[in-house]
Amino acid sequence: MVTFDRHRRLRSSAAMRDLVRENHLEKSDLIMPVFVDAAIQDKEEIKSMPGIYRYSLNTILDEIKEIVDLGIQSIIIFGIPDHKDDVGTGAWEEHGIVQEAIRKIKAAYPDLIVIADTCMCEYTSTGHCGIVKDHKVLNDESLEYNTKVAVSQVKAGADMVAPSNAMDGFVAAIREGLDNAGYKETPIMAYSVKFASSFYGPFRDAADGAPQFGDRKGYQMDPANRLEALREMKSDEEEGADFTMVKPAMAFADIIRDVRNNTNLPLVAYNVSGEYAMVKAAAANGWINEEQIVNEVLVGLKRAGADLIITYFAKEVAARMGNK
Ligand code: PBG
Repeated sequence: MVTFDRHRRLRSSAAMRDLVRENHLEKSDLIMPVFVDAAIQDKEEIKSMPGIYRYSLNTILDEIKEIVDLGIQSIIIFGIPDHKDDVGTGAWEEHGIVQEAIRKIKAAYPDLIVIADTCMCEYTSTGHCGIVKDHKVLNDESLEYNTKVAVSQVKAGADMVAPSNAMDGFVAAIREGLDNAGYKETPIMAYSVKFASSFYGPFRDAADGAPQFGDRKGYQMDPANRLEALREMKSDEEEGADFTMVKPAMAFADIIRDVRNNTNLPLVAYNVSGEYAMVKAAAANGWINEEQIVNEVLVGLKRAGADLIITYFAKEVAARMGNK
């Protein structure tokens, strides 16, 4: 008789499966994205992201209260300004929408970790993540402006900045800017491995930051590349990143694992807007079981090597976890 292994011994009951489960999703793993819009008074649902809203300054604290009451400990905040220009003034002015929202949130919820997405695409008339000249996104000039954005966000009370602008040297520039402004203790969560992805489609509805010409392929990575991801991550690590990130997540789990195996930094996976929209759309049609799919996706990202997950599902998942 052939001999074989009895793997099913460890799957014989729910309790047995609990004993041998290798990865767990916890509330403290979750970071909830939040959109605040200067041009609205109330809140507006984002068409391609059912259940996710843009909030006004008047309504933002209602959302934050729900998040905090659910036991979520951190948010990442994005702003939609009521004016755009060539240099993205709205992104770095003292009374910009994100700066005002951060002040308001931190005053009401000082213990909540508020991470500010540091980018310019929602604020520039070109919709690009930096300064454009002759239809080119200039690297070093964009660094100067993105550094101003980061400093203004921290001045307003952000606990951390998450630069997503994908310029070379962005971590070094922002680190220097923060240090010079007296914020040596403020961490940087670098969007190190950021692919030029169609999975960001719904986010561009949400944040109104679609490029007005061309695309982001000159600064974000080609989804076909793997070794380049490690070079990007290493640069950010050397420049002083405190967290590193891979984005999008679901189609890039191999990259999450590669990065995990090559850094000791805390690793964040961004389960992006398009990933959320696909699950919601299929669930709305009754084609999949949303709750099970979401759990599988998120624990899968933990298994791939993520420590933290930025996800639009954070509230729903936290609600299902109850008081755990
Ligand atoms: C800003 C930024 C984007 C996302 C996060 N920060 C858009 C982009 O790079 O085009 C996408 C997030 C999502 O799709 O959920 N640069």
